[in-house]
Amino acid sequence: MKGIILAGGNGTRLYPLTKAVSKQLMPIYDKPMVYYPLATLIEAGIHEILIITTPQDLPLYQRLLGNGSRIGCSFSYIEQAEPNGLAQAFILGEEFINNEPVALILGDNLFYGTRFIDQLKKHASLDGGMIFASKVCDPQRYGIVQFDSNKKVIDIEEKPTHPKSSFAVPGIYFYDNTVVEKAKKLRPSKRGELEITDLNRLYMVEERLQVEVLDHGTAWLDTGTIESLMEASQFVQVIQSRQGVLVGAIEAAAYHSGSIDQEQLRHLAEEFKGNVYGDYLKSLISN
Ligand code: TTP
Repeated sequence: MKGIILAGGNGTRLYPLTKAVSKQLMPIYDKPMVYYPLATLIEAGIHEILIITTPQDLPLYQRLLGNGSRIGCSFSYIEQAEPNGLAQAFILGEEFINNEPVALILGDNLFYGTRFIDQLKKHASLDGGMIFASKVCDPQRYGIVQFDSNKKVIDIEEKPTHPKSSFAVPGIYFYDNTVVEKAKKLRPSKRGELEITDLNRLYMVEERLQVEVLDHGTAWLDTGTIESLMEASQFVQVIQSRQGVLVGAIEAAAYHSGSIDQEQLRHLAEEFKGNVYGDYLKSLISN
Protein backbone atom coordinates (compact mmCIF):
# COMPACT_ATOMS: atom_id res chain seq x y z
CA MET A 1 0.00 0.00 0.00
CA LYS A 2 1.15 3.52 -0.80
CA GLY A 3 0.76 6.60 1.39
CA ILE A 4 0.03 10.28 0.84
CA ILE A 5 0.59 13.09 3.35
CA LEU A 6 -1.33 16.30 2.73
CA ALA A 7 0.81 19.13 4.01
CA GLY A 8 -0.51 22.11 2.08
CA GLY A 9 -3.35 24.45 3.03
CA ASN A 10 -3.22 28.02 4.29
CA GLY A 11 -3.04 27.47 8.04
CA THR A 12 -4.94 30.73 8.58
CA ARG A 13 -6.07 29.71 12.08
CA LEU A 14 -2.43 29.78 13.16
CA TYR A 15 -1.60 33.21 11.67
CA PRO A 16 0.79 34.94 12.17
CA LEU A 17 2.77 31.77 13.03
CA THR A 18 2.14 30.24 9.61
CA LYS A 19 2.32 33.33 7.44
CA ALA A 20 5.87 32.58 6.31
CA VAL A 21 6.29 28.90 7.22
CA SER A 22 4.08 25.88 6.51
CA LYS A 23 1.84 24.74 9.38
CA GLN A 24 3.11 21.16 9.20
CA LEU A 25 6.66 22.36 9.84
CA MET A 26 5.69 23.99 13.14
CA PRO A 27 7.13 22.23 16.20
CA ILE A 28 5.03 19.78 18.15
CA TYR A 29 7.23 19.72 21.25
CA ASP A 30 10.59 18.54 19.86
CA LYS A 31 9.83 17.60 16.24
CA PRO A 32 8.28 19.15 13.16
CA MET A 33 4.54 18.40 13.00
CA VAL A 34 4.84 16.35 9.79
CA TYR A 35 7.04 13.78 11.57
CA TYR A 36 4.04 12.45 13.50
CA PRO A 37 1.77 11.46 10.57
CA LEU A 38 4.85 10.33 8.66
CA ALA A 39 5.92 8.06 11.53
CA THR A 40 2.35 6.67 11.70
CA LEU A 41 2.44 5.61 8.04
CA ILE A 42 5.95 4.18 8.31
CA GLU A 43 5.14 2.28 11.50
CA ALA A 44 2.13 0.76 9.71
CA GLY A 45 4.53 -0.58 7.06
CA ILE A 46 3.76 2.04 4.39
CA HIS A 47 7.16 3.03 3.02
CA GLU A 48 6.37 4.59 -0.35
CA ILE A 49 5.03 8.05 0.45
CA LEU A 50 3.98 11.12 -1.53
CA ILE A 51 4.11 14.48 0.22
CA ILE A 52 1.76 17.10 -1.21
CA THR A 53 2.36 20.71 -0.25
CA THR A 54 2.35 24.27 -1.57
CA PRO A 55 4.83 25.38 -4.25
CA GLN A 56 6.61 27.72 -1.81
CA ASP A 57 6.92 25.11 0.98
CA LEU A 58 7.94 22.12 -1.14
CA PRO A 59 11.71 22.86 -1.06
CA LEU A 60 11.56 23.03 2.75
CA TYR A 61 10.00 19.55 2.98
CA GLN A 62 12.62 18.22 0.58
CA ARG A 63 15.33 19.70 2.76
CA LEU A 64 13.82 18.18 5.88
CA LEU A 65 12.97 14.72 4.56
CA GLY A 66 14.97 14.11 1.37
CA ASN A 67 14.10 11.12 -0.78
CA GLY A 68 13.55 8.83 2.22
CA SER A 69 16.41 6.46 1.39
CA ARG A 70 18.25 7.19 4.65
CA ILE A 71 15.40 5.42 6.48
CA GLY A 72 14.71 2.76 3.85
CA CYS A 73 11.69 4.59 2.41
CA SER A 74 10.85 6.40 -0.79
CA PHE A 75 9.50 9.95 -0.53
CA SER A 76 8.29 11.92 -3.50
CA TYR A 77 6.75 15.38 -3.72
CA ILE A 78 4.02 17.16 -5.65
CA GLU A 79 2.81 20.74 -5.49
CA GLN A 80 -0.78 21.67 -4.84
CA ALA A 81 -1.03 25.12 -6.41
CA GLU A 82 -4.15 26.09 -4.42
CA PRO A 83 -5.82 24.41 -1.43
CA ASN A 84 -8.64 22.97 -3.52
CA GLY A 85 -9.61 20.29 -1.02
CA LEU A 86 -8.43 17.02 0.49
CA ALA A 87 -9.83 14.82 -2.27
CA GLN A 88 -7.65 16.61 -4.84
CA ALA A 89 -4.75 14.60 -3.39
CA PHE A 90 -5.85 11.57 -5.42
CA ILE A 91 -5.98 13.51 -8.69
CA LEU A 92 -2.57 15.07 -8.07
CA GLY A 93 -1.25 11.69 -6.98
CA GLU A 94 -2.70 9.62 -9.84
CA GLU A 95 0.65 8.64 -11.32
CA PHE A 96 2.11 7.89 -7.89
CA ILE A 97 -0.88 5.74 -6.88
CA ASN A 98 -0.65 3.79 -10.13
CA ASN A 99 -3.62 1.48 -9.52
CA GLU A 100 -2.64 0.44 -6.02
CA PRO A 101 -4.48 0.91 -2.73
CA VAL A 102 -3.54 4.09 -0.90
CA ALA A 103 -3.72 5.63 2.57
CA LEU A 104 -4.14 9.40 2.99
CA ILE A 105 -3.14 11.10 6.23
CA LEU A 106 -3.45 14.80 7.01
CA GLY A 107 -0.19 16.49 7.90
CA ASP A 108 -1.70 18.14 10.96
CA ASN A 109 -3.20 15.01 12.56
CA LEU A 110 -1.38 13.19 15.33
CA PHE A 111 -2.24 9.63 16.35
CA TYR A 112 -0.77 7.77 19.27
CA GLY A 113 -1.34 4.17 20.34
CA THR A 114 0.14 0.78 19.49
CA ARG A 115 -3.30 -0.79 18.96
CA PHE A 116 -3.95 1.90 16.36
CA ILE A 117 -0.92 0.78 14.37
CA ASP A 118 -2.26 -2.80 14.49
CA GLN A 119 -5.64 -1.51 13.27
CA LEU A 120 -3.91 0.21 10.34
CA LYS A 121 -1.84 -2.83 9.39
CA LYS A 122 -5.01 -4.88 8.94
CA HIS A 123 -6.05 -2.69 6.01
CA ALA A 124 -2.96 -2.99 3.83
CA SER A 125 -5.11 -4.67 1.20
CA LEU A 126 -8.75 -3.71 1.10
CA ASP A 127 -11.77 -3.68 -1.14
CA GLY A 128 -13.56 -0.34 -0.96
CA GLY A 129 -12.86 2.45 1.50
CA MET A 130 -12.01 2.45 5.19
CA ILE A 131 -12.37 5.36 7.57
CA PHE A 132 -12.11 5.67 11.32
CA ALA A 133 -14.49 7.15 13.89
CA SER A 134 -13.75 8.84 17.17
CA LYS A 135 -16.30 10.14 19.68
CA VAL A 136 -16.06 13.91 20.18
CA CYS A 137 -17.96 16.51 22.23
CA ASP A 138 -18.09 19.11 19.44
CA PRO A 139 -19.27 17.18 16.34
CA GLN A 140 -20.22 20.38 14.45
CA ARG A 141 -16.50 20.97 13.82
CA TYR A 142 -15.86 17.70 11.98
CA GLY A 143 -16.90 15.28 9.27
CA ILE A 144 -19.43 13.09 11.11
CA VAL A 145 -20.24 9.43 10.44
CA GLN A 146 -23.24 7.25 11.27
CA PHE A 147 -22.88 3.48 11.00
CA ASP A 148 -24.78 0.23 11.64
CA SER A 149 -23.87 -2.70 13.89
CA ASN A 150 -21.80 -4.24 11.06
CA LYS A 151 -19.70 -1.06 10.89
CA LYS A 152 -21.14 -0.23 7.50
CA VAL A 153 -21.47 3.52 6.98
CA ILE A 154 -25.08 4.75 6.71
CA ASP A 155 -24.43 8.46 6.51
CA ILE A 156 -21.56 10.87 6.50
CA GLU A 157 -21.80 14.68 6.67
CA GLU A 158 -19.29 17.52 6.65
CA LYS A 159 -19.50 19.88 9.67
CA PRO A 160 -23.29 19.45 10.17
CA THR A 161 -25.26 22.08 12.11
CA HIS A 162 -27.40 19.31 13.64
CA PRO A 163 -25.10 16.27 13.87
CA LYS A 164 -26.80 12.85 13.77
CA SER A 165 -23.95 11.19 15.62
CA SER A 166 -21.01 12.29 17.74
CA PHE A 167 -18.48 10.17 15.84
CA ALA A 168 -15.98 12.36 13.99
CA VAL A 169 -13.86 11.09 11.12
CA PRO A 170 -10.14 11.55 11.89
CA GLY A 171 -7.69 12.54 9.16
CA ILE A 172 -6.60 9.11 7.98
CA TYR A 173 -8.36 7.26 5.16
CA PHE A 174 -7.72 4.02 3.25
CA TYR A 175 -8.95 3.41 -0.29
CA ASP A 176 -8.75 0.77 -2.98
CA ASN A 177 -7.53 1.57 -6.47
CA THR A 178 -10.87 3.04 -7.62
CA VAL A 179 -10.14 6.19 -5.61
CA VAL A 180 -8.61 8.14 -8.50
CA GLU A 181 -11.58 7.66 -10.83
CA LYS A 182 -13.93 8.54 -7.95
CA ALA A 183 -11.99 11.70 -7.08
CA LYS A 184 -12.19 12.80 -10.72
CA LYS A 185 -16.00 12.61 -10.58
CA LEU A 186 -16.21 15.10 -7.69
CA ARG A 187 -17.32 18.68 -8.15
CA PRO A 188 -16.27 21.54 -5.81
CA SER A 189 -18.50 22.06 -2.79
CA LYS A 190 -20.08 25.38 -1.75
CA ARG A 191 -16.79 26.32 -0.12
CA GLY A 192 -15.02 25.57 -3.41
CA GLU A 193 -13.23 22.37 -2.31
CA LEU A 194 -13.15 18.77 -3.49
CA GLU A 195 -14.43 17.28 -0.25
CA ILE A 196 -13.18 14.02 1.23
CA THR A 197 -16.70 13.57 2.63
CA ASP A 198 -18.11 13.55 -0.94
CA LEU A 199 -15.49 10.98 -1.93
CA ASN A 200 -16.47 8.83 1.04
CA ARG A 201 -20.11 9.15 0.02
CA LEU A 202 -19.27 7.61 -3.37
CA TYR A 203 -17.92 4.54 -1.57
CA MET A 204 -20.91 4.62 0.78
CA VAL A 205 -23.51 4.48 -2.01
CA GLU A 206 -21.67 1.44 -3.41
CA GLU A 207 -21.98 -0.02 0.12
CA ARG A 208 -18.21 -0.33 0.18
CA LEU A 209 -17.32 2.07 2.98
CA GLN A 210 -16.33 0.51 6.28
CA VAL A 211 -15.64 2.28 9.53
CA GLU A 212 -13.54 1.27 12.49
CA VAL A 213 -13.93 2.97 15.87
CA LEU A 214 -10.67 4.14 17.40
CA ASP A 215 -9.66 2.11 20.39
CA HIS A 216 -9.91 3.86 23.80
CA GLY A 217 -6.14 3.64 24.07
CA THR A 218 -5.64 5.66 20.90
CA ALA A 219 -5.16 9.40 21.10
CA TRP A 220 -6.14 11.52 18.11
CA LEU A 221 -5.13 15.16 18.08
CA ASP A 222 -5.70 17.65 15.31
CA THR A 223 -3.29 20.52 15.60
CA GLY A 224 -4.91 23.24 13.50
CA THR A 225 -5.55 25.83 16.23
CA ILE A 226 -3.21 27.49 18.69
CA GLU A 227 -4.83 25.68 21.65
CA SER A 228 -4.63 22.28 20.00
CA LEU A 229 -1.05 22.94 18.88
CA MET A 230 -0.09 23.66 22.47
CA GLU A 231 -2.04 20.68 23.79
CA ALA A 232 -0.34 18.36 21.30
CA SER A 233 3.09 19.58 22.45
CA GLN A 234 2.13 19.01 26.08
CA PHE A 235 0.76 15.56 25.24
CA VAL A 236 4.00 14.53 23.51
CA GLN A 237 6.11 15.92 26.34
CA VAL A 238 4.16 14.01 29.01
CA ILE A 239 4.16 10.70 27.11
CA GLN A 240 7.85 10.97 26.32
CA SER A 241 8.94 11.86 29.83
CA ARG A 242 6.67 9.28 31.54
CA GLN A 243 7.09 6.39 29.10
CA GLY A 244 10.63 6.98 27.89
CA VAL A 245 9.66 6.72 24.24
CA LEU A 246 9.98 9.29 21.47
CA VAL A 247 6.63 9.80 19.78
CA GLY A 248 6.86 10.49 16.04
CA ALA A 249 10.54 9.61 15.57
CA ILE A 250 10.64 8.56 11.92
CA GLU A 251 13.95 6.66 12.25
CA ALA A 252 12.49 4.59 15.11
CA ALA A 253 9.34 3.92 13.06
CA ALA A 254 11.52 2.76 10.17
CA TYR A 255 13.44 0.42 12.48
CA HIS A 256 10.27 -1.01 14.07
CA SER A 257 8.69 -1.65 10.68
CA GLY A 258 11.80 -3.28 9.26
CA SER A 259 12.76 -0.77 6.57
CA ILE A 260 16.19 -0.32 8.20
CA ASP A 261 18.30 -2.68 10.30
CA GLN A 262 20.26 -2.19 13.50
CA GLU A 263 23.43 -1.13 11.70
CA GLN A 264 21.58 1.53 9.71
CA LEU A 265 19.90 2.80 12.87
CA ARG A 266 23.29 3.04 14.59
CA HIS A 267 24.50 5.11 11.68
CA LEU A 268 21.44 7.41 11.86
CA ALA A 269 21.89 7.90 15.61
CA GLU A 270 25.37 9.29 14.83
CA GLU A 271 23.71 12.11 12.85
CA PHE A 272 22.23 13.32 16.14
CA LYS A 273 25.28 12.78 18.30
CA GLY A 274 25.23 14.56 21.64
CA ASN A 275 21.48 15.21 21.51
CA VAL A 276 18.55 13.45 23.19
CA TYR A 277 17.07 12.37 19.85
CA GLY A 278 20.30 10.56 18.95
CA ASP A 279 20.57 9.08 22.45
CA TYR A 280 17.06 7.67 22.09
CA LEU A 281 17.77 6.11 18.70
CA LYS A 282 20.90 4.52 20.17
CA SER A 283 18.93 3.20 23.13
CA LEU A 284 16.67 1.25 20.75
CA ILE A 285 19.67 -0.75 19.60
CA SER A 286 20.75 -1.89 23.02
CA ASN A 287 17.18 -2.91 23.98
P1 TTP B 1 -7.47 22.47 7.18
O1 TTP B 1 -7.06 22.52 8.61
O2 TTP B 1 -8.90 22.29 6.87
O3 TTP B 1 -6.99 23.79 6.43
P2 TTP B 1 -5.69 24.64 6.64
O4 TTP B 1 -4.53 23.77 7.04
O5 TTP B 1 -5.48 25.47 5.40
O6 TTP B 1 -5.95 25.55 7.92
P3 TTP B 1 -6.91 26.83 8.17
O7 TTP B 1 -8.31 26.30 8.24
O8 TTP B 1 -6.39 27.31 9.50
O9 TTP B 1 -6.66 27.83 7.09
O10 TTP B 1 -6.65 21.33 6.45
C1 TTP B 1 -6.47 20.06 7.02
C2 TTP B 1 -5.15 19.50 6.53
O11 TTP B 1 -5.16 19.27 5.13
C3 TTP B 1 -3.95 20.36 6.78
O12 TTP B 1 -2.87 19.48 7.08
C4 TTP B 1 -3.73 21.07 5.48
C5 TTP B 1 -4.18 20.05 4.48
N1 TTP B 1 -4.78 20.58 3.26
C6 TTP B 1 -4.10 20.50 2.05
O13 TTP B 1 -2.94 20.05 2.02
N2 TTP B 1 -4.72 20.89 0.91
C7 TTP B 1 -5.99 21.37 0.89
O14 TTP B 1 -6.51 21.69 -0.19
C8 TTP B 1 -6.69 21.47 2.15
C9 TTP B 1 -8.08 22.00 2.19
C10 TTP B 1 -6.05 21.06 3.28
